[in-house]
Amino acid sequence: MKKPTRRKFMQQTSAAGLGLVTAASTRRILGANERVRIGLIGVGSRGDQVLDAFLMHPDAQIISICDVYQPYLPFAARKAGGSPALHRDYRKILEQKDVDAVVVATPDHWHALQMIQACEAGKDVYVEKPLALTIAEGRKMVDTARRTQRVVQVGIQRRSSKFVKEAADFIRSGGIGHVTVAKCYHVLNETPLGIGNPPDSAPPEGLDWDLWLGPAPKVPYNENRCAYKFRWFWDYSGGQLTNFGTHYLDNIQWALGETAPLTVTALGGKFGLKDNREIPDTLEVLWKYKTGTLVVFSQYNCNAAPCNISTGEVEFRGTKGTLYLGLRGYEVIPEVVRDVPVPARSPLDRRRLGPGKKLIEPIKVQGGILDADHARNFLDCVRSRKTCNCDIETGHRSTSAALLGNIALRTNSVIEWDSANERVTNHSKANDLLSYRYRSPWRLA
Ligand SMILES: NC(=O)c1ccc[n+]([C@@H]2O[C@H](COP(=O)([O-])OP(=O)(O)OC[C@H]3O[C@@H](n4cnc5c(N)ncnc54)[C@H](O)[C@@H]3O)[C@@H](O)[C@H]2O)c1
Repeated sequence: MKKPTRRKFMQQTSAAGLGLVTAASTRRILGANERVRIGLIGVGSRGDQVLDAFLMHPDAQIISICDVYQPYLPFAARKAGGSPALHRDYRKILEQKDVDAVVVATPDHWHALQMIQACEAGKDVYVEKPLALTIAEGRKMVDTARRTQRVVQVGIQRRSSKFVKEAADFIRSGGIGHVTVAKCYHVLNETPLGIGNPPDSAPPEGLDWDLWLGPAPKVPYNENRCAYKFRWFWDYSGGQLTNFGTHYLDNIQWALGETAPLTVTALGGKFGLKDNREIPDTLEVLWKYKTGTLVVFSQYNCNAAPCNISTGEVEFRGTKGTLYLGLRGYEVIPEVVRDVPVPARSPLDRRRLGPGKKLIEPIKVQGGILDADHARNFLDCVRSRKTCNCDIETGHRSTSAALLGNIALRTNSVIEWDSANERVTNHSKANDLLSYRYRSPWRLA
């Protein structure tokens, strides 16, 4: 009998030892010069951008594309080149043996099902943020990725940006002292009409509305529930808190060296807009972390005045300085401190006070956040089997922090979070919002 090669031996023993043939064990191992063959699921607004990002890399080949809105397919196929297979149903991509990896860029309510089924089919996955619609889905996604040994990149592309990493490392190493407050903002004046109030109607030609809804409740088609604007409806999304907030909370947790808050609360409502959105137009969310840090997210959709002096979207207020982090760089502004107890405001005290000191130097760094860098990291990890810059556990924890804000809002409460067990400890109704019942026949494996 021919002696098995080491790789074959490892595959046979590990799979047989467990009594199963895992997706990982049957999957081909990519050679250094081979192209990573990719299937795209969802080629709307973000899917199109991620397609561009992968097309920057000659070792990525788009061989299959799927969207429930058929008119998008020829456009994406022309861009991708090479006559990719075109599908309406994503399960056709998962059946394709020649697909090594899939990109999931569908609305949030689809991420868990599509990512988990892709892992089970032996594909590596690039899945957009927010990782999931609920925390229970996110945990299941992490567990599946680990069990099937899939490489997963979550689409929080700031993790692949040099300047964002530098800023996070600087803060975590104490560069601006103890960060007692981190604030992040999303402001946009959508008055007076917001997204409007279109009536329910028949779906447009070429859209499979039932497959778009998937596990979400069956409702008539309304154009505001669909392309891009699904963000303002609870069945499909968590609003700007999970849309932009997941990016910001990821920055903040990274910089603090934290993975989860202790306490969360939120207040908000539809105060200014009369459109048919369900999600508040005005929102304030607060998280407390065990580092002794209060985190604040402000979403104002009825006023767009800038929230800070820089172009930053996230600000870290440390005892020695403030770091403003934006899309094009970061800036550190030193604090002036006096090494004496804060005095009473008498003239004598003021004279004794003397000049303050800057304990750190100002810094200004410019840079960029490139989707192509994040795609590059994914392609490299598919080959090396290393952990991606935004691993699934990280993406899950950053998404969870945002989702907890919505749970606090919807239960009108201050919730205490047990991050080890992923349960709310002081409000049983809040735990009902950690998951939801899928519409039949959809269910998580
Ligand atoms: N990383 C980022 O910076 C970033 C930026 C924008 C959007 N996103 C994320 O990307 C996702 C998509 O957002 P978008 O703005 O592109 O929305 P979109 O509505 O423009 O696109 C979603 C696409 O998915 C398709 N789709 C829906 N259900 C499908 C299914 N079952 N199978 C195949 N296709 C299906 C839709 O027809 C549509 O073309 C969201 O989760 C969003 O949060 C991430």
